[in-house]
Amino acid sequence: MRELTATVKLSHKSFIQPLFVEEGLTAPRKLEGLNGVQVDTVNSILNTIEQDINSGVNKFLFFPVPSNKAAKDFDFSFATTVIARIKKQFGDAVWIAADVCLCSYTTHGHCGILNADQTRLLNNETVQVLSQYAVQLADAGADCIAPSDMMDGRIAAIRQQLNAHGFEAVALMSYAAKFSSHFYGPFRDACHSEPRAQGLQNRKTYQISPFNLNDALSSALRDEREGADILMVKPAGLYTDVIARLKQATLKPLAAYHVSGEYAAIEALAERGLLRREAAHLEVWAALGRAGADVIVSYAARFALGWIREGVY
Ligand code: PBG
Repeated sequence: MRELTATVKLSHKSFIQPLFVEEGLTAPRKLEGLNGVQVDTVNSILNTIEQDINSGVNKFLFFPVPSNKAAKDFDFSFATTVIARIKKQFGDAVWIAADVCLCSYTTHGHCGILNADQTRLLNNETVQVLSQYAVQLADAGADCIAPSDMMDGRIAAIRQQLNAHGFEAVALMSYAAKFSSHFYGPFRDACHSEPRAQGLQNRKTYQISPFNLNDALSSALRDEREGADILMVKPAGLYTDVIARLKQATLKPLAAYHVSGEYAAIEALAERGLLRREAAHLEVWAALGRAGADVIVSYAARFALGWIREGVY
């Protein structure tokens, strides 16, 4: 009866698996607190993807970790080379959304270019660079561009540049309501992207405040008007109110990103024997589905098919 009448029916087809690839890495690197997730080398990423396809996930969110950091004039060739290799090997058997942000490229870990005394972000200069980056990623074969930088106006600028270069069919998944969260810690470890400029030690000036629901909703709706195809809320489990409210306000598909710290919290409880990790993840996914998420980004996406089929909840 419960199965028959459930209002949320999870499918592994709705999941996206994040992937990390680091330049110059000679062996895959495990991540503190993120069981089952690793930073891949340019070679091991192909194995990881093949295994993932066999486990039932073929949609990915790609995070490159380049070795050379700069303040401006970035070299995006590592990211584009890896995407081209993945697409050459797997073609349309995989759907790749490429993260667009500068935080793993900058010497100071911020998501964009800073002014000379490193006290604030230069919005428009950053948007220009992000748009050029997006075109290069699309040219390398990315199916979707996922801007996570949170500059103003970047969705319109990227859409315009993609179209100008003949990439009308490349989709845009906007981090539409991305909060300045304390739950990104394990991710920043993975990408070496902790913000550490003298005059700007956090991302509060460009990510959304957890204390402002209206800003989250209006930013997301602005991204829709600027041309986003999928609107994302991030983190996910702490922000189901935002997902539910957005669901009422848009017909666009909504993605919920259960972020690294949210994932690691479950893993930490499980390690102490205080819950069953599979069941806890399924419970979170049910909550996201109830709130209105159509797409779930999870570090456990690669387990979704197995766990849903086995009914581990
Ligand atoms: C980069 C970016 C972050 C995440 C995704 N893209 C971190 C941040 O904004 O500091 C977080 C993902 C996660 O924690 O799983 N802008």
